[in-house]
Amino acid sequence: MKVLVTGGLGFIGSHTVVELINAGHEVVIIDDLSNSSLDVLQGIHKITEILPEFEKIDLREKPRVEDFFSRHNNLDGIIHFAASKAVGESVQKPLLYYENNLTTLVYILQQTTKLNRQNLIFSSSCTVYGQADEMPIKEESPVKPAESPYGNTKQIGEEILRDTCKVYEDLNVISLRYFNPIGAHESALIGELPIGVPQNLVPFITQSVAGIRGELSVFGDDYPTPDGTCIRDYIHVVDLAKAHVVALERLMNGKTDQNYEVFNVGTGKGSSVLEVIQAFENANGLKVNYRIAPRREGDVIMAYADTTKSNEILGWKSQLTLEDAMRSAWNWEKYVRKID
Ligand code: WQD
Repeated sequence: MKVLVTGGLGFIGSHTVVELINAGHEVVIIDDLSNSSLDVLQGIHKITEILPEFEKIDLREKPRVEDFFSRHNNLDGIIHFAASKAVGESVQKPLLYYENNLTTLVYILQQTTKLNRQNLIFSSSCTVYGQADEMPIKEESPVKPAESPYGNTKQIGEEILRDTCKVYEDLNVISLRYFNPIGAHESALIGELPIGVPQNLVPFITQSVAGIRGELSVFGDDYPTPDGTCIRDYIHVVDLAKAHVVALERLMNGKTDQNYEVFNVGTGKGSSVLEVIQAFENANGLKVNYRIAPRREGDVIMAYADTTKSNEILGWKSQLTLEDAMRSAWNWEKYVRKID
């Protein structure tokens, strides 16, 4: 099948392109290269020995979107990753986030609803739950008021899709609510490339151990958790990528009894910050230097997924462990920094 992947040179997008190609699909990538580079396309080529079609397009430019779809009117599916995703930046630049994350979604939907049938996977996030009241978090858990414009764009994006699917019965959509994506492809040819100082835990750990950053600051050890540090559901990016292929094939094979569905994508297991540090040290035989620092504004105490729906209805389950992710994350860091 022919699949458009927007944001296909990003962290999760590039790993998903690899798994789509591995599953035998033809892939067309759109990316504006604002948070990626053509090196990622070369990495995909080296891994799969296939060079997917790529177009550099800023999806905020409506005429460019219309032109693309006029030239690609035979798409069997779309996976829409393209969005800005830095929580902190979204607080400083809300209009950039509302324009880039929502206007682009509307432009794409205006094109897909012209087609007689379209299948779309939307990149959503566990952020929509905020601090959920019950663990593990189910898809039916209430969506809480967003704690950042980024999180709000994911909530609003889901509402746009749900409302559009009510009117266009030939538009089939699955929103995947990711928990915390980490790790890299086993080849170490693609991975997470945060620009500037990493805000997320795992890339900060790998850059700290590589000597690019100072010691890790653990943002608080006085939370009501077993070891006092926050708990998250860290999912290997390759498992997450495979979930996208399974979800898109579910739509393309017409397996759904409703045309809008939501699935949590996580491991179903919570790990604390200190447990992540321990997993890195166990996996790589290296010490992570850290200090306990004050809590970070906006952090939820605990978030991990109830994966029953994904396991039993989607037919997907994560396979890789936290240590697998730590090993691949470190191998990627060594590749990028040319460390032996
Ligand atoms: C994880 C834990 C921090 C850095 C974010 C986005 C979310 C989603 C996933 C896109 C927390 C602690 C972190 C550090 C630390 N992204 N930490 N020192 O905040 O759970 O989720 O990424 O969809 O939308 O919000 O991930 O990796 O930033 O933090 O102690 O230097 O690690 O306090 O407990 P988070 P994270």
